[in-house]
Amino acid sequence: MSQDAKLAFLYHSGDDPEPWIRAFRACAPELEMRYLPDLGDASDIVAALVWRPPPGLLASLPNLKLIHSKGAGIDHLSSDPDLPAGIPVVRLVDRSARLLMTQYVVHAALSHHRHMDHYGAAQAEGQWRQLPPPDTEKTTVAVLGLGALGQDTARMLSALGFRVIGWSRRPKDIADVECVHGAGALPSVLGQSQIVVCLLALTDETRGIIDARTLAALPRGAYVINPARGAHVVDEDLLAALDSGHIAGAALDVFHDEPLASEHRFWSHPKVVVTPHISADALPRTAAEQVADNIHRALAGQPLINPVDMARGY
Ligand code: NAP
Ligand code: GLV
Repeated sequence: MSQDAKLAFLYHSGDDPEPWIRAFRACAPELEMRYLPDLGDASDIVAALVWRPPPGLLASLPNLKLIHSKGAGIDHLSSDPDLPAGIPVVRLVDRSARLLMTQYVVHAALSHHRHMDHYGAAQAEGQWRQLPPPDTEKTTVAVLGLGALGQDTARMLSALGFRVIGWSRRPKDIADVECVHGAGALPSVLGQSQIVVCLLALTDETRGIIDARTLAALPRGAYVINPARGAHVVDEDLLAALDSGHIAGAALDVFHDEPLASEHRFWSHPKVVVTPHISADALPRTAAEQVADNIHRALAGQPLINPVDMARGY
């Protein structure tokens, strides 16, 4: 390789590559981004930054040293039956993603807590219709999942005055958040919570966790926020709980199939807020810094940022 030769990496995602090209040019001009349909000589490519790569694409790169998920989740990688074994996998969780996710959940929680639906409808009718003030300190929010995103979100909800219970697989200690762990603790957490936020990794254990049983364990009038993965929710169970009035509403950013099918009932359900998987999209400016750092670390044999335990599933 000549002294000026660049390090090539694959970029694959469903979006416009231009903002990513500009971001890498600004922070890591020594990297050359390659993307389909013209990958050039595949043997040049030492790393891959990918979101839902087609099965076999990563396996076709003979000198790959690093697989970098373009998101925090890695379920889109583990579904590739040809995912090359033995190559380290890392995920993208940077400061922007943490901020964006916290903002999304806080917005959804406050919008429900402060009855913004009611006031929007009242304004549409030109009506001055006050409701009693909500008692924030008597409102409990359950944050399921205390990883990179759940921890920040739980802290912020607590700072806003809510009582926050965080639930995870292993014990945690977070200031001003009541932390509990393990499957046995879940029913009690749910029974106390007026708002439940799902920020779990998607694994075989958490798939379909928001089902009829979980929803029934919540008090009547509870609100569901899911910006994690669509497969955490059993759609028919949530719709039934919304229709019966047991669940007051839901803010959903992720779905089993994306884009959400136009005929899906979530679109038109009056108690559901649908957003198109935007709660914590990767921001090229900050994400490129983390990816470039990880590529250099992988090539130098140094510890990686946000490594994934593929056997554990997150
Ligand atoms: P993370 O750091 O991997 O944390 C995952 C959390 O799930 C951990 O606290 C883990 O517990 C918990 N967990 C896993 N299995 C569990 C089980 N069986 N019982 C209880 N807890 C369990 O994930 P993250 O980066 O915070 O991301 C959270 C979710 O958001 C993921 O699903 C990710 O895909 C999604 N996401 C969505 C968007 C979007 O734009 N919509 C953006 C980014 C991320 P331990 O801590 O005990 O291991
Ligand atoms: C988005 O869904 C992500 O996993 O970052």
